[in-house]
Amino acid sequence: MATERTLSIIKPDATRRNLTGKINAKFEDAGLRIVAQKRIHLTKAQAGEFYKVHAERPFYQELVDFMASEPVVVQVLEGDNAIAKNREVMGATNPADAESGTIRAEFAESVGENSVHGSDAPETAKEEIAYFFSGLELVG
Ligand code: CMP
Repeated sequence: MATERTLSIIKPDATRRNLTGKINAKFEDAGLRIVAQKRIHLTKAQAGEFYKVHAERPFYQELVDFMASEPVVVQVLEGDNAIAKNREVMGATNPADAESGTIRAEFAESVGENSVHGSDAPETAKEEIAYFFSGLELVG
């Protein structure tokens, strides 16, 4: 199995409810190693740039406003098949569809305020990690 890295964001609905530790425990219990992590408060411009692929979607402005509303924790997770593994641990985007035991089933409030983001493919993982972290911040 290939060792991969993926970008994860613990979103404002989760940081607000003090869920960072519980969410990190889910990652670590699944064998994902947190190799970089920082708590930041995104500006609307930074959130808009990160989610620009969704710029034409009707929920884009709501998404940007939400992601800039309160602090987030951005992190790099590493492990065997980390991208797919993280998506499994997160559960479906809409918590109503998420399997029990997943982060979104347990913690997410709605499809918009769904507690976590994770990269969806190797190329996006690379881009998303580089958006938030320099090579020096990735300590393995
Ligand atoms: P995320 O994995 O961060 O990627 C894009 C985000 O857009 C997604 O999680 C959701 O939080 C958000 N999103 C997707 N669909 C909707 C929707 N119908 N309404 C509001 N937000 C949405």
